[in-house]
Amino acid sequence: MGLSKFSWVSGIAIVFLQLVTGSFGWGQHGHYVTCKIAEGYLTENAMAVVKELLPKSAEGELAAVCSWADLFAVRSHYYWSRALHFVDTPDFRCNYDYTRDCHDSSGRKNRCVTGATYNYTLQLMSACHNSASKSRYNLTEALMFLSHFVGDVHQPLHCGFLGDLGGNRIHLHWYRRKANLHHVWDTEIIDTALKRFYGSDLNIMIESMQKNITEDWSNYVESWEECDANCTVCPNPYASESVKLACKYAYRNATPGSVLGDEYFLTRLPIVERRLAQGGIRLAATLNRIFNSSCGLISNVGKGEQGVSFA
Ligand SMILES: *[C@@H]1O[C@H](CO)[C@@H](O)[C@H](O)[C@H]1NC(C)=O
Ligand SMILES: *[C@@H]1O[C@H](CO)[C@@H](O)[C@H](O)[C@H]1NC(C)=O
Ligand SMILES: *[C@@H]1O[C@H](CO)[C@@H](O)[C@H](O)[C@H]1NC(C)=O
Ligand SMILES: *[C@@H]1O[C@H](CO)[C@@H](O)[C@H](O)[C@H]1NC(C)=O
Ligand SMILES: *[C@@H]1O[C@H](CO)[C@@H](O)[C@H](O)[C@H]1NC(C)=O
Ligand SMILES: [Zn+2]
Repeated sequence: MGLSKFSWVSGIAIVFLQLVTGSFGWGQHGHYVTCKIAEGYLTENAMAVVKELLPKSAEGELAAVCSWADLFAVRSHYYWSRALHFVDTPDFRCNYDYTRDCHDSSGRKNRCVTGATYNYTLQLMSACHNSASKSRYNLTEALMFLSHFVGDVHQPLHCGFLGDLGGNRIHLHWYRRKANLHHVWDTEIIDTALKRFYGSDLNIMIESMQKNITEDWSNYVESWEECDANCTVCPNPYASESVKLACKYAYRNATPGSVLGDEYFLTRLPIVERRLAQGGIRLAATLNRIFNSSCGLISNVGKGEQGVSFA
């Protein structure tokens, strides 16, 4: 059990603190959008493996499980996963450095969103090319974690400053309501846009982003898909982009006690929409590289009750 090291009382206190301080990543809507966009760009091979690994409850829809890693039950059961949703930089440093920044609060290396992205990519890749690995890892979880973390690393404040916990400690108002800056970027901007521009219909928001991908942004999509030096996965540039956006847009004019309204909302929304789209395109590109035609998982289609069967 995730809480075995703690007494129930301190375990619950920590879980409660976590709820209060947040750090959950794009809210449910953001993760759904990212994965819905990804679904449209998967190759046939990748789609086949994804469908095989998804839990039955997802009914073949990747987007259905992209918030799984944020579920209260998952976060309390897999308490060790709490540091894997973000990577923070030293205060007021607008750059990201894997060696310096990728660790948890007790300094354990690789325990951050970019480290976790490598971790779950490697698990899936090794299962593709080595059947012994297939039973070593829970590949359903690897897919759900990877799809979630590629989303999280695109949320600028998931690569914010250590001192304010990526904006969680910046208390302010979102229009009339109390909020913290981190939550504004996880959830409020998206939800306000949904209500104001998309008739509260997430599918309409997704469609309008899909339209942008094929029109306004079409010249960039190829470069979004690229990975340096022909790597399979490349979360580091995504984290670098995020902390730069955090400095330039998220933290700017959002000091403790301020009231954020239309001016902030309307200038930041395009950034949020673009990050959600980039996250989706890059998740698909990553899954396409992992589950390419030489991935051995593809021959298993139809086996197993819940994703792959672990004998
Ligand atoms: C890698 O994945 C395993 C299995 O889920 C997990 O126990 C471990 O903590 C992960 N490490 C990182 C850095 O993501
Ligand atoms: C793999 O993980 C999923 C999601 O947590 C779980 O439902 C399933 O039982 C696990 N499979 C095995 C064989 O442990
Ligand atoms: C589409 O792209 C335009 C121009 O880049 C931008 O202003 C608009 O906010 C985008 N819409 C969505 C839904 O992403
Ligand atoms: C990536 O692969 C392509 C085709 O195999 C090759 O031409 C190119 O030089 C490689 N790029 C790097 C940076 O390794
Ligand atoms: C698939 O990916 C593996 C691992 O990156 C690579 O070795 C292999 O050449 C790729 N196969 C194809 C057909 O691209
Ligand atoms: Zn998250």
